[in-house]
Amino acid sequence: MQTLTAFVIFLLAVVVTSAGAVDTCDRIIQHGYPCGRHNLTTSDGYRLTMFRIPHSHRGDPQHNVTDKPPVLFMHCVECSSDIWILVGPDSALPFMLADAGFDVWLGNARGNMYSEEHVTMERSSIAFWAFSLDELGTIDVPAKIDYILAKSKKKSLHFVGYSQGTTNFIAALSNKPEYNDKIRSSHLLGPVVFLCHVGGPFPVLASPLVGSDNPFAHMLGTLVGTVPLHELTALARSVALALCTRPDFEEMCVGIMNIIAGWDSPYLNRSVIPELLSTFPAGCSFRQFVHYAQNVMSCDFRYFDFGLAGNMLKYGQAKPPSYNLSNVHPETPMELYFADNDNFVPARDIYHLYKIFGKRASWNRVKHTKYNHNDYAMAYNVKECLYDCILDKMQEYERRPFKGDQCTCFKKNAF
Ligand SMILES: *[C@@H]1O[C@H](CO)[C@@H](O)[C@H](O)[C@H]1NC(C)=O
Ligand SMILES: *[C@@H]1O[C@H](CO)[C@@H](O)[C@H](O)[C@H]1NC(C)=O
Ligand SMILES: *[C@@H]1O[C@H](CO)[C@@H](O)[C@H](O)[C@H]1NC(C)=O
Ligand SMILES: *[C@@H]1O[C@H](CO)[C@@H](O)[C@H](O)[C@H]1NC(C)=O
Repeated sequence: MQTLTAFVIFLLAVVVTSAGAVDTCDRIIQHGYPCGRHNLTTSDGYRLTMFRIPHSHRGDPQHNVTDKPPVLFMHCVECSSDIWILVGPDSALPFMLADAGFDVWLGNARGNMYSEEHVTMERSSIAFWAFSLDELGTIDVPAKIDYILAKSKKKSLHFVGYSQGTTNFIAALSNKPEYNDKIRSSHLLGPVVFLCHVGGPFPVLASPLVGSDNPFAHMLGTLVGTVPLHELTALARSVALALCTRPDFEEMCVGIMNIIAGWDSPYLNRSVIPELLSTFPAGCSFRQFVHYAQNVMSCDFRYFDFGLAGNMLKYGQAKPPSYNLSNVHPETPMELYFADNDNFVPARDIYHLYKIFGKRASWNRVKHTKYNHNDYAMAYNVKECLYDCILDKMQEYERRPFKGDQCTCFKKNAF
């Protein structure tokens, strides 16, 4: 009983002390880099926060102040801008890019811990949470691109997306093809578009929410979708942090992470766990999960399914339309990075995408067969495997000096 009481007090202390105390900028500054906080308001009233690393304290000798190409990062589901800096100043891509003279912007999707305000709606209201992947892609991403291009006075930017961040990117360009020209290069880590062959427990978890033509399931999914997840995620974060940073529980936590992301990856940098669980899960709408679940069940990449009546109202047809992938054609091939042990990105679904995108994308299949969905952000070798390559490609797209031999972590033939 005493232990339990102590544990509860400990949890409360965690909740109290972790509430909004430290943000991505504070962490960036702790690592010695400058950082700016930027707020923008979307056309539908959400206030989104971006963090900017305008330059490096290490001096970025080649490219002083004037010509810094901007880069926008978009994070995974339930993540935040913090996901990009977990592996620290020597390995994390935002710092590498700042060191190399890029202007780095870390975005946050509506509904996460840094973007949970609205001009009129309260975070505690159901209406606030009535958004899906559609709004993240078709409203938030274009708003961020416009904001960054205005601030930096540039015509285009580089994009780096991880998991849901890649879904947002594809949705943005499909829905607003005029943004293709604003993309200098794009790097999609664990691209989540088609989820037809997704493994693990997901199809089983998905089916009750969306059961293909079951009006009740649609109604449930749409209603459940607006349940505010906020307090729940804050609690989950505190509990996970309290448990997983205890040595006796670490193994279990790593096991759970692997079940979700891909079995048995040996690549996780375990030092990131405390920092990860300070900000993950970072909050999102339940509808984002329902939306993914719908795409699992439909084997397609579609707009949110509101059920028959809702779809007629919203789309003027019984089924939600598919995202038109013909519209997605940035000026340089999209760089797709995927791995065989990634639970969310089945190689067969990537192959389907390959059939559609062909030469519009470049296909980088990680040669380590145990690489999983977490490893794009948290592997101890992620710099050598992915980030050195991404940085070098961006240099090349900028027509700056580049090395040309940094992309060695991939299979010779992707398929
Ligand atoms: C941005 O928004 C956050 C949270 O809503 C707020 O604390 C901060 O003061 C705002 N910053 C600026 C520069 O407006
Ligand atoms: C970069 O710019 C700063 C002023 O903004 C200047 O003091 C510094 O000497 C410049 N560095 C190089 C390498 O040109
Ligand atoms: C692993 O993560 C820790 C914590 O951020 C970091 O200090 C360390 O450099 C990382 N190791 C590698 C090899 O990236
Ligand atoms: C998809 O977009 C292309 C143009 O990018 C257009 O030609 C085609 O008709 C569209 N397909 C559908 C189903 O709307």
